[in-house]
Amino acid sequence: MKQDQQKKLAAEEAVKWIKDGMVVGLGSGSTVNWMLEKLGEKVQQGLQITGIPSSKKTERLAKQLGIPLTDSSSVSRIDIAIDGADEVDRQFNLIKGGGGSLVREKIVDAHATEFIVIVDESKLVSTLGKFPLPVEVLPFGWELTARTIAELGCEPKIRERNGERFISDNGNYILDCQFNSIQNPQQLHEQLKQMTGVVETGLFVQMADRIIIGKEQTAEEIVA
Ligand code: A5P
Repeated sequence: MKQDQQKKLAAEEAVKWIKDGMVVGLGSGSTVNWMLEKLGEKVQQGLQITGIPSSKKTERLAKQLGIPLTDSSSVSRIDIAIDGADEVDRQFNLIKGGGGSLVREKIVDAHATEFIVIVDESKLVSTLGKFPLPVEVLPFGWELTARTIAELGCEPKIRERNGERFISDNGNYILDCQFNSIQNPQQLHEQLKQMTGVVETGLFVQMADRIIIGKEQTAEEIVA
């Protein structure tokens, strides 16, 4: 499939930035899974790194691939983080959280010296917002939190998977908020973060240092 090819291409380009001795933040999602495959190969060939996974799914796959892992309590730095996104714009704003791992991803990505985003070209947009913005909320009183969020001009939908309410790795709910067009990502993020009950938003505003976009034959890199 074309998109998979593009994801793989972007992922393999990103792995080139991982060097011996680095502590590597491992994002989540299908594009990151391609990155983990390649990284696993390099580790088998002798590359020495330590990974910090940003989700339980990533942790499981990284373990299967033989990538050495640790957690944030045992490292003093994260040299590089590589993560996917649901939407990116050329101003280095992202929507993340389609897989529900936005909180841990944001913690890992925010603490990395270099944060690289890997996407296929369908993720590149001129204005964020077509993809419903994931907002992680506390389960207690979530209906009230959703009502307050709706006042910002969206219809929050509680996330479900296979007919069950989706529960994040942190035991919280996700509200998917369709804004259609987010003109000021920083402002929206701040408005949401101020609301009681909101844990984190999927807006990653100007955090990325490099965006690698997988295309037909090549990968385009945008550097901050
Ligand atoms: C996981 O919570 C997300 O932030 C992912 O990084 C994002 O959804 C991209 O996923 P894909 O690489 O599967 O499109």
